[in-house]
Amino acid sequence: METHKQLTIGLFGFGVVGEGLYKVLQQTPSLKASIKKVCIKHSGKKREAPAELFTTDRDIILNDPEINVIVEVINESGPAFEIVSRALKSGKSVVSASKKMIAEHLPELLQLQKETSASLLYEAAACASIPVIRNLEEYYDNDLLHSIKAIVNGSTNFILTKMFEEKLEFQEALLLAQQLGFAESDPSLDIEGYDAANKWTFLLTHAYGIVEKTENLVFSGIDHIHAGDAEVAREKHYDIKLVAQAKKLANGKVAAFVLPQFIRQDDHLAFVKNEFNGVVIESGFADKQFFYGKGAGSFPTASAVLSDLSALRYEYKYEYKKLYHHTPHELTDDFYVRVYLSFDDLKYIPKEKFQSIEEWHADNERKYLIGVIHFRDIKGHTWWRENGTSLVLTPDPIIEDMEVRKLKKKSLELAGLI
Ligand code: HSE
Repeated sequence: METHKQLTIGLFGFGVVGEGLYKVLQQTPSLKASIKKVCIKHSGKKREAPAELFTTDRDIILNDPEINVIVEVINESGPAFEIVSRALKSGKSVVSASKKMIAEHLPELLQLQKETSASLLYEAAACASIPVIRNLEEYYDNDLLHSIKAIVNGSTNFILTKMFEEKLEFQEALLLAQQLGFAESDPSLDIEGYDAANKWTFLLTHAYGIVEKTENLVFSGIDHIHAGDAEVAREKHYDIKLVAQAKKLANGKVAAFVLPQFIRQDDHLAFVKNEFNGVVIESGFADKQFFYGKGAGSFPTASAVLSDLSALRYEYKYEYKKLYHHTPHELTDDFYVRVYLSFDDLKYIPKEKFQSIEEWHADNERKYLIGVIHFRDIKGHTWWRENGTSLVLTPDPIIEDMEVRKLKKKSLELAGLI
């Protein structure tokens, strides 16, 4: 018995992802999904699809009663939000890959889904080909998800890999990422960490029921990483990766941030190279699980859109279980982190704020230290990314209060003071 819904799609955007989806759908006839119209911004460009498929008038799609699914894969988050809101309000299901739009408008999108009962799916918006949202939503019960750490931006991972392994210059590696279609049209979104932090906001919603604005998360990108930091990493047999992470602390609250980090060679994330993404989840009883796949690019992203389309045939919706069916977790900034800091001049570093300084290195050019500092001395402060200062987290960077007390006692004992 055929119970699947026929999907008639109105597609917004025919860039890297939109065109990828068009091609992928041609190869998957069993899905019973067809694109009726594509809305584009500029009609002049030559495209590999019949001209009559395209329009520049969004109303032609949004007012067409036969179109029951909107796929929205455009760049600008303002227009994307308008399209998605109008579609949901008129009872159409929506599949989106616009991570920036979702991060910026999450509370409104949650409200719209409640009011309209229409489905909004966005698996492609984070980690592209890795099914991370539905996994977090469906598989991990609230109490069992101890921590999640991930590489969620393919471009920065690609650039770091090329710099570390092929000794490419930063600009050269970035250009390559742009040519391959991984980077955002404004690549500062990748490099300065916005893209990763945007993805992290809604992954935190599916993981822990946390609804937070990107600007309230502590994040940075890879633009402050200094050539000397890569050398130190190599000496210590580490990689540097931009890591998004969240960990449930002993008090039940969640520590979360997106920062560059030293990665041990035996860490699962060390295996994640180029434009690949990776997610390591630690959960009760299961221990560690590692998800790996392409996090950017035309077909890998289209594959996630395709999977959402397939889910729509069965009327699938996100339930936001951790938000609505459990007590949502709260974010906390009451913990410590062990950091590596490199800098030109010690006067820019608030050394009195460090609970302990475990390593110190100085030469004529550049200095660095490794020490433990309260997260509140980072959150809301800018000293750690100004005046040529570079902050990289150490492996297992989160330290809870009890451990710091032990740490202090130990250093005092060592100094013969107690
Ligand atoms: N610019 C993004 C990245 C594309 O590099 O991960 C995929 O979201």
